[in-house]
Amino acid sequence: MPQLLHLDSSADLDSSVSRAVTGQFSDVWHALGPDHSVIYRDLHRDAPPHLPTSALHWAPHLRTANEVAPPAAEALQKELIDELVSADVVLIGAPMYNWSIPSTLKAWIDYIHVPGITVPFDAPTRPLEGKPVVVVSSRGNQYGPGTPDFGADHTVAQLQQVLGSALGMDVHVVTVDLTLASRVPALAPLAPRAEASLSDARASVTGLATRLGGAPASDELG
Ligand SMILES: Cc1cc2nc3c(=O)[nH]c(=O)nc-3n(C[C@H](O)[C@H](O)[C@H](O)COP(=O)(O)O)c2cc1C
Repeated sequence: MPQLLHLDSSADLDSSVSRAVTGQFSDVWHALGPDHSVIYRDLHRDAPPHLPTSALHWAPHLRTANEVAPPAAEALQKELIDELVSADVVLIGAPMYNWSIPSTLKAWIDYIHVPGITVPFDAPTRPLEGKPVVVVSSRGNQYGPGTPDFGADHTVAQLQQVLGSALGMDVHVVTVDLTLASRVPALAPLAPRAEASLSDARASVTGLATRLGGAPASDELG
């Protein structure tokens, strides 16, 4: 039973671009069949608290005698990690906030990136190795090669570092550029590019959901 874990983190509950694009991925996933289930977690509406203690960064057996974690926070950490490990595919809506990720998404990462549990420390623990994760990152400006702000995107870079390099996940990135073209006068001339970026992103998530959900490619059909 292929299970998708769908996370959103935009603070915009009315016209979020990342929510619209992850929602499309989820719809395509559902349409693949009744066995394609989705666990949904809204990190904005139901925000994980900041780590109450650095003890939670370590697996229990790696904590020092002075490092004690509150049981409720430890239970939340276990819930978040179990949910992530049990998913077949993970989908993350990650808008750019101040060149980085929303603090709610950062808090979630602080719970699930744990030496001795999700990353190797004293043993080769890497339960997320190879698991596909699709990151949908919407941003008001544009950050591709050749643009003035190339290199200033610390949203995608951070997620690639944590999810890919550290956790060993198979990261697929879908970006939507220039979402503020209709709001920021200086970006208005780039409106056609904004529309093309959104349409490319929509096509990408449809293809990814179909492929990662296990639907046969059209040339494999009888
Ligand atoms: C708190 C905040 C910070 C933002 N910082 C940036 C930024 O650094 N660079 C940028 O290009 N856009 C920035 N934006 C614009 C958002 O990236 C853009 O509106 C994007 O579409 C948000 O995703 P959403 O539509 O899913 O909410 C910011 C927006 C907010 C609310």
